[in-house]
Amino acid sequence: MNKKTIWITGGSTGIGKALAIKFSSKGWNVAVSARRVELLNELCDQNENIAAFPLDVTNKEICFEVFNKIKSKFNDIDICFFSTGTWDPKKEKDIDVEQMKEVFKVNFFGTVNTIKAVEQHFKERKNGIITIVSSIAGYRGLPNSTGYGPSKSALNNLAESLYFDFKRYNVRVCLVSPGFIKTPMTDKNDFKMPFLKTPEYAADQIYDGLVNKKSFEIHFPKALTITLKILSFIPSKIYFNLVGRLTKYQKK
Ligand SMILES: NC(=O)c1ccc[n+]([C@@H]2O[C@H](COP(=O)([O-])OP(=O)(O)OC[C@H]3O[C@@H](n4cnc5c(N)ncnc54)[C@H](OP(=O)(O)O)[C@@H]3O)[C@@H](O)[C@H]2O)c1
Repeated sequence: MNKKTIWITGGSTGIGKALAIKFSSKGWNVAVSARRVELLNELCDQNENIAAFPLDVTNKEICFEVFNKIKSKFNDIDICFFSTGTWDPKKEKDIDVEQMKEVFKVNFFGTVNTIKAVEQHFKERKNGIITIVSSIAGYRGLPNSTGYGPSKSALNNLAESLYFDFKRYNVRVCLVSPGFIKTPMTDKNDFKMPFLKTPEYAADQIYDGLVNKKSFEIHFPKALTITLKILSFIPSKIYFNLVGRLTKYQKK
């Protein structure tokens, strides 16, 4: 039987790296992408099914080139997992327009660049999965999240829009909404993260959701994500009051 192939962006650390190891351990070909070549190479040295395809997702042309290289090496791509993301809590407290543009450039347009690179492939293939990694921060506005939250909300909307477009081609668009996972990204947080989980836990949840289930959204841990989903339905006045108290948001 031919081995299946997954392309993972954001694969040098955190959730993407753990997912690469998970899929590789299940016998899949794994193409990993990120900017730090040395980290990608280390990962490949330790896992024979993983191959490195460095890229910066903000460069649209490079995204196409990398897609073509992966296709030439493995002949096919069954699943794409686009998890590139950036977050700097220190820079999210004010309205810093340049910082907000930078976050959107990576989180939103970087993801769009990679989706664009695989669009034709999946439309012709008429099968497969395009996965967009968002966040619980995309559900509703949170304090001190002027760039990251809005970029993730935009991804949620994009994923729903693309769901319709790709369904006509029998291609599944999947949204992943992790809660707090211990990675280099969240190591910068100076607040207590409820229900904090490991990248390996995240990888198990995502693997199961992609391979064994068919739902649009993969979200975890459920104790946190379901609570937040309920909060997303309540009126703004109650939401602001509750979240303000939970996050100890102070008046200036
Ligand atoms: N950890 C959490 O609690 C959590 C919760 C919700 C959602 N998420 C989302 O999950 C995804 C993965 O996050 P993580 O927690 O695993 O963080 P992470 O360990 O910091 O991983 C981020 C990845 O994105 C890559 N990256 C950043 N900018 C890039 C660029 N311009 N081009 C290519 N690759 C780039 C990084 O690699 P290089 O620096 O080597 O390029 C790294 O591999 C992100 O989209 C994040 O928003 C995380």
